[in-house]
Amino acid sequence: MHNQERYTMLNKRVNGEPFFITGALGCIGAWTVRNLVRQGARVTVFDLGRDVHRLRLIMTPAELEQVAFVHGDITDLDSVETALRTSGAMRVIHLAALQVPFCRADPSLGARVNVVGTVNVLEAARRIGASRVVYASSVAVFGSSEEDPDASVADHAPLVPGNLYGVYKQANEGTARIYWQDWGVCSIGLRPHTLYGPGRDQGLTSSPTKAMLAAAAGLPYHIPYGGRGGMQYADDIANIFIRSALVDFSGAAVFNVRGSVVDMAEIVAAIEHAVPEQRGTITYDPKPLPLPADLDDSRLRVLIGDLPNTSLADGVQSTIELFRAALADGRLTTERL
Ligand SMILES: NC(=O)c1ccc[n+]([C@@H]2O[C@H](COP(=O)([O-])OP(=O)(O)OC[C@H]3O[C@@H](n4cnc5c(N)ncnc54)[C@H](O)[C@@H]3O)[C@@H](O)[C@H]2O)c1
Repeated sequence: MHNQERYTMLNKRVNGEPFFITGALGCIGAWTVRNLVRQGARVTVFDLGRDVHRLRLIMTPAELEQVAFVHGDITDLDSVETALRTSGAMRVIHLAALQVPFCRADPSLGARVNVVGTVNVLEAARRIGASRVVYASSVAVFGSSEEDPDASVADHAPLVPGNLYGVYKQANEGTARIYWQDWGVCSIGLRPHTLYGPGRDQGLTSSPTKAMLAAAAGLPYHIPYGGRGGMQYADDIANIFIRSALVDFSGAAVFNVRGSVVDMAEIVAAIEHAVPEQRGTITYDPKPLPLPADLDDSRLRVLIGDLPNTSLADGVQSTIELFRAALADGRLTTERL
């Protein structure tokens, strides 16, 4: 089937359909909620937080009114099950997690949220007979590819995570595999690299987006790492999660998501192009992160067709334009820089 036909078909299936999204007040979540609401879905948000600032950044008040909010903790199975059952959703997008610095600061809490939380989502899905769980894994399941840093890493490459966050994500992939094997819970795990765009304001790799905010506000900024890596615009990854929730599939599979593989110098150049008056004020440490730069996502393309991939230049430009507007009308401040 032609890609365009495939997308049209998938989008038609969204209209009126209930979706249940955990961690939906976060960055990927906010874009996923926005895009689903715009496609006519009925969205239930399940999140421990109460702060809807990321949603406000990219959604209108009228769109926000269409969302059902459930305040709950992913570590509590009963809450997850009750909220999922009440939502009427058969499709679950599971994004709730603690990112790298939070797992490092409190490994025990990190394991409860990231590992037990994912068990709870799969268990709740099993109990209500959900048709699909799409969950966020991460590039962090792979260690650094020091032998050949430019090699494209396949989905089935050995998993040697270099931090606890990656170990927890690896556990989630194993948990999802066993939930399919033992109970037929269908799942797709997605492994994005580095997300950027409005709403990306926390986590190890949020600094390129913070640099965009700083530039929009006329401030200098130092990005504490460099090297090459996949940059994924938040709107695109949200659409990839949505398509993965809709596509005909049965089993438990995990897929890399590549994004635009670029050097930090290209990111800084894109910011300078969007804000020429800030030239020279955005700097970075050349040391790369211990992650593979390039993920092979050809298997995911076979499943859901060509992936949305906003160019770095366009993504940075749109992000900075939105930041400028949000700084001007008070939806955003530079407090989190
Ligand atoms: N941001 C990236 O570059 C990136 C890359 C790869 C994978 N991921 C994964 O994608 C998912 C979403 O990432 P993000 O950038 O949107 O994260 P985020 O930190 O912006 O949002 C995470 C959300 O989870 C919620 N949450 C945390 N603990 C919870 C709990 N106990 N119960 C319910 N909700 C809880 C938070 O309140 C928050 O709204 C995560 O699983 C993350 O690990 C992110």
